[in-house]
Amino acid sequence: MKKGLFITGTDTGVGKTIVTAAIAATLRADGVNVGVMKPIATGCVRRREGLVSEDAEFLAKAADAPEPLEEISPIRLAEPLAPTVAAARAGVKLELAPMWRAWHRLKKAHDVMLVEGIGGALCPVTPKRSVADLAQQFHLPVLVVARPTLGTINHTAMTVEVLRARGLEVAGIAVNRYRHDTDDVAQLTSPDEIQRVTGAPVLGLVPDDPTTDFSSGVVGEDVLACVRQMALRLR
Ligand SMILES: Nc1ncnc2c1ncn2[C@@H]1O[C@H](COP(=O)(O)OP(=O)(O)OP(=O)(O)O)[C@@H](O)[C@H]1O
Ligand SMILES: [Mg+2]
Repeated sequence: MKKGLFITGTDTGVGKTIVTAAIAATLRADGVNVGVMKPIATGCVRRREGLVSEDAEFLAKAADAPEPLEEISPIRLAEPLAPTVAAARAGVKLELAPMWRAWHRLKKAHDVMLVEGIGGALCPVTPKRSVADLAQQFHLPVLVVARPTLGTINHTAMTVEVLRARGLEVAGIAVNRYRHDTDDVAQLTSPDEIQRVTGAPVLGLVPDDPTTDFSSGVVGEDVLACVRQMALRLR
């Protein structure tokens, strides 16, 4: 992994944060100076210090990042909605300038940067721009996190097509919450079919690991072991 990755998903809640945190933890354990960013976060929680992105908090812990959370996640909104909608309802105009300032500082301070998007590729960030439009400006290859269950071939193929239409390099796909003990034919066959349809490598079948606990900031050992192999394939 030369400069890092932009991590998107086929949907919200597919495991972008868990996979990104696992990559960060793996790289850090190998002595890589890795930084993390969640440039735009909605559904932030209100704390004494203000609005906090729990995704940013999770990533910062995994990467052992020295920066304050406001720098890792410079744009934060309270309602768990698409950024355009959350901003409109909060009565604020979403300005991207603070995000680019934070990005340039973080990029200088770290050798590898992992940037987690929000929602999926066409999630609107500003009235004119989507996550995929934004991803273009980070100049990073993109990792797509996908579900393992029926419907994922379509969602993943659409995501890859949208990214490539913008000239983005799709580094690969992580199929997350894969159940190795399943007898669900859709799940057993979808990784190969995703690879065939998209021509992008499925880099890992990240196991569904019940020891993973978002609220306590824990990435399960099985997830870490799989993502370690995945990260090696990205180098
Ligand atoms: N491999 C896994 N095994 C077990 N649980 C997982 C796994 N991956 C994700 N989860 C759980 O699924 C939920 C959603 O994961 P996560 O927050 O990483 O998704 P996301 O794509 O980052 O969501 P968002 O769109 O809100 O940023 C979390 O509760 C997380 O703990
Ligand atoms: Mg997340």
